[in-house]
Amino acid sequence: MTPKNRFIRSATNSHLGNTDGTISNADIEMYDQLGQGNVGTIITGHNSVDPSLNYRADIAQPSLGDDSFIAGQRKVADKIHQYGAVAIAQLSHAGPKGLNPIDFNTLSMEEMHRFVEWFVAAGRRAKEAGFDGVQIHIAHWYLLQAVVNRDLNHRTDIFGGSDENLIRLPREIVEGIRRECGAKFLIYVKMNAHNTAAAADDYDLLAYYIDTLVSAGVNMVEISGTDFMRHARTDSCYYIEAVEYLRKRFPSLPLSLVGGIYREEDIERVLQTTDFVSMSRALLTQPDFINLLHDHTVEKSRCLHCNKCFEIFATKYKRCVYSPINQQLEHTFAHE
Ligand SMILES: Cc1cc2nc3c(=O)[nH]c(=O)nc-3n(C[C@H](O)[C@H](O)[C@H](O)COP(=O)(O)O)c2cc1C
Repeated sequence: MTPKNRFIRSATNSHLGNTDGTISNADIEMYDQLGQGNVGTIITGHNSVDPSLNYRADIAQPSLGDDSFIAGQRKVADKIHQYGAVAIAQLSHAGPKGLNPIDFNTLSMEEMHRFVEWFVAAGRRAKEAGFDGVQIHIAHWYLLQAVVNRDLNHRTDIFGGSDENLIRLPREIVEGIRRECGAKFLIYVKMNAHNTAAAADDYDLLAYYIDTLVSAGVNMVEISGTDFMRHARTDSCYYIEAVEYLRKRFPSLPLSLVGGIYREEDIERVLQTTDFVSMSRALLTQPDFINLLHDHTVEKSRCLHCNKCFEIFATKYKRCVYSPINQQLEHTFAHE
């Protein structure tokens, strides 16, 4: 499958979902705007794979944890396809960052294996809903990133200790989805550039993880990081050293980079190394950012990097100081 361009809307929790885990009309409207904005690949916000709604990242996070969600998710895939974009559903378990935080270090082996079943079932549902593929969220300190993080994983069984054990859970998930959904279904992963605080071989570890996941069936790797909110507004392309390193190690692996890409010059710089360029906040505040760049109307995003969009529950659901969808959001939550 060849996307119509090299732009990716990186997974972005819209905070527009309904509290029962279903997709709202405001969500569909948001995907409509991104589609009109000529984004080549649209990755949804993270969908919870947990069968219970109680372990989601927040009360408005959409779910793929049950077959009853397939019909609503189909509207998202259809909307994205209406504009000829590639539709990817992001799958995640909030783990330690959920409404009810889970410490995976204390779980039994059986409970760890259950995560594999949940991710694979969610992958099957995404396929049934019409998505072209899924992205497994192994970044930002949610469950899977915590598991692969050398500093956070203290398990002493087959899910901890050696690097091979640390990547076991994501590997089994990828293998399971590949088996369940077939060879043509796209499987992307989003990974942190850093998976250990101090070790000098941090990028080596990342390369080992990626090598393992690609052997298991991954088609594309998007590199991100946990500290994207702490960067100054003037910083750009936060994790570019990681993709430059990976490009040398994996010359033909489809790669993308996200984080601090908000100017035309950033996009050009990143695309010298990667196949794709991913943006989140720039497209949250201006879903038509790519068209504006193309028309030479703007050279950079109007995003202030104020991060009000991320601290949404503290900001009374103000999604972006500029966003046209704020009103609909307030309307969505008026029925709570
Ligand atoms: C409001 C908001 C919601 C986000 N939700 C997700 C998410 O659901 N899944 C994910 O992988 N990353 C999520 N992110 C992180 C972004 O995808 C991206 O990695 C980060 O914002 C850095 O990219 P940027 O500088 O282009 O915004 C979110 C970011 C923001 C600002």
